[in-house]
Amino acid sequence: MSSHAHFRAPFVLVTGGKGGVGKTTLAANLAVALRAKGLRTLLCDLDLALADLHVLLGLAEGRTIEMALRGECELADCIQAGPGGIDVLVGSNGSAAMARLDDATRARLLTELARLSERYDIVVGDSAAGIGPEVLELGTRADMVLVVTTPDPTAAADAYGLVKALVAEASARGLDLPTPELVLNQVSGAREAELATVRLAGVCQRFLSRSPRLAGWIPRSPRVLDAAKRRAPFVLASGKEGSGSGERECVERLARRVVLACGREMASTGSGANPSQDWRTA
Ligand SMILES: Nc1ncnc2c1ncn2[C@@H]1O[C@H](COP(=O)(O)OP(=O)(O)O)[C@@H](O)[C@H]1O
Ligand SMILES: [Mg+2]
Repeated sequence: MSSHAHFRAPFVLVTGGKGGVGKTTLAANLAVALRAKGLRTLLCDLDLALADLHVLLGLAEGRTIEMALRGECELADCIQAGPGGIDVLVGSNGSAAMARLDDATRARLLTELARLSERYDIVVGDSAAGIGPEVLELGTRADMVLVVTTPDPTAAADAYGLVKALVAEASARGLDLPTPELVLNQVSGAREAELATVRLAGVCQRFLSRSPRLAGWIPRSPRVLDAAKRRAPFVLASGKEGSGSGERECVERLARRVVLACGREMASTGSGANPSQDWRTA
C-alpha cells in the first residue's frame, strides 16, 4: 500500500512478535525518556484493536484513532497530553472493526499519521503482537524497528519470526529495511541480554543474512509492575536505583541509542522538518 505518506519525523516502531514481552511498557517509557531529552514526542497506540497504552498511562480512552478513521474527528483531535510532556494518540480496546482494517483504511491511517508527524521531532508507535498486516506495514515503513523480547525461548523464537516476516515483506515491496534492533526485556543484567542477543543475531545472520544489534536491555524489576499499577511511566518515578543498571537508566540509554540511529537516518535521507533539537547532542 501507500507510497505517498511520508513521515517528516523519524518513526520508531516498538514491536516484538509475542504478547506480554513488554512492548507497551517500553514504548511508553521510551517516549517519556525521549521527551526528557527535549524532543517533541508523539506516542501512538498502534495496537489498534486491543489498545491498552492509555491504561498504562492513566489516560481516559477519550477520542480514539478509530473515531478519526470513521470520520468523526480529525486524527489531530485525538491527541491527549500524556505524562512527562508527551502527546499520545489513544486506540480502541475490543474493536472487531479495527482488527480487520482494509488496505485503503490502513493507508489512510499512515498518511494521516505521517501528516501529524510534521509537528514532532520523533514518533513512537506501540504495536500489536504478531505478524499481521498492520505490524508488517508499519514495520516496513518505520525508520527504526525495535523488537522487544525476553530471553525466553518462545519469545526469542517469535522475535526471530517477526524479523523474518519483516525482511520478506520489505523485499516483496522493494523497500530498504533498516535491520531491526533488539530490546531484551526482563533480564537479570547486561550479560543475560548480550548472551540472548548473540544467540538470536546468530540465527538471523545464518538464515536472513541480517544481524540485529542490541539497542538496549531492561532488568526485570518489581518497580516496573508497581509503576504499571499506579498507571504511570517508571522513568518518571523518583527514588534511587542501582548504579547504571536500574530500569530508568536503561531506558535513558535506549533513548540515546534511538536518537543516534534516527539522527543518522535523518542525516542520510534529509527528512525531518526543522527538528527543534540538534540530533547529535540530544
Ligand atoms: N522489565 C520488567 N520487569 C517486570 N515486569 C515487567 C517488565 N516489563 C514489562 N513487565 C510487565 O509485563 C506485563 C506485560 O507488559 P506489556 O508492556 O503490556 O507487554 P506487551 O505490550 O508486549 O503485551 C505487564 O504487567 C508489565 O508491567
Ligand atoms: Mg501491548
